[in-house]
Amino acid sequence: MMRILHVDASARIEGSHSRELSRHFVEALHGRIPRSRSTGSIWRRTRHAISGLSRPPRSRCPEADHTPEMREAIADSDAIVARVLAADALVIGTPIYNFGMPSTLKAFFDHVSRNGKTFLADETGMRGLIGHKRVAVLIPLAGLTGRERCSTGSTRSPPMSARSWAFLGIADPAFIAARPMMFAGQDAAAAAMISAQAEADELASKWGRPGRM
Ligand SMILES: Cc1cc2nc3c(=O)[nH]c(=O)nc-3n(C[C@H](O)[C@H](O)[C@H](O)COP(=O)(O)O)c2cc1C
Repeated sequence: MMRILHVDASARIEGSHSRELSRHFVEALHGRIPRSRSTGSIWRRTRHAISGLSRPPRSRCPEADHTPEMREAIADSDAIVARVLAADALVIGTPIYNFGMPSTLKAFFDHVSRNGKTFLADETGMRGLIGHKRVAVLIPLAGLTGRERCSTGSTRSPPMSARSWAFLGIADPAFIAARPMMFAGQDAAAAAMISAQAEADELASKWGRPGRM
């Protein structure tokens, strides 16, 4: 059985390419992995108030001293962390907005990054605690040409780079890009989506095979 946590970050509901692509991938997983179960998208439950979340387990700010805002932020974070910890696989559909991950996805990371729960940081160093999960990130990109492409067109560019994932222990998330989704016409975008969906099908088959990837 595979428990899949499906997170979508696009501000668009209708017409969202990242939602279309991540939904396609999750459906492909359901088709290939018997008894796989999806727990649904969660980003809308995140908030931007993160006071109190970065405190280490043995905090000098005891729970009794938490403000109502801190309590609310921690409760939100606890709920999301519990769902992440319970999942075998994370499927994230996200755009890139202005050279970086959307603030919704950043809010997700801010809520999920909890010392003592999803990573450990103390005087001896830092290590992630959720590295055993499978992670796929599905990203439609504008696909600009020329010099711009280096900074905006690559899924390995700094905004989506390994740092946020490695921090949590996820060494090598799978990235599937659909490109060009903007500025190249509808035909090019449709072809990019078909090709990204084929890549998603291939990854779903890989995840469906027994054994560690
Ligand atoms: C406000 C905005 C900013 C964007 N910035 C970038 C960018 O910096 N680099 C890039 O490759 N694509 C960029 N894009 C393209 C999006 O990644 C692409 O349109 C994607 O399909 C949007 O996701 P959605 O269809 O799920 O809403 C941007 C799109 C929007 C709407």
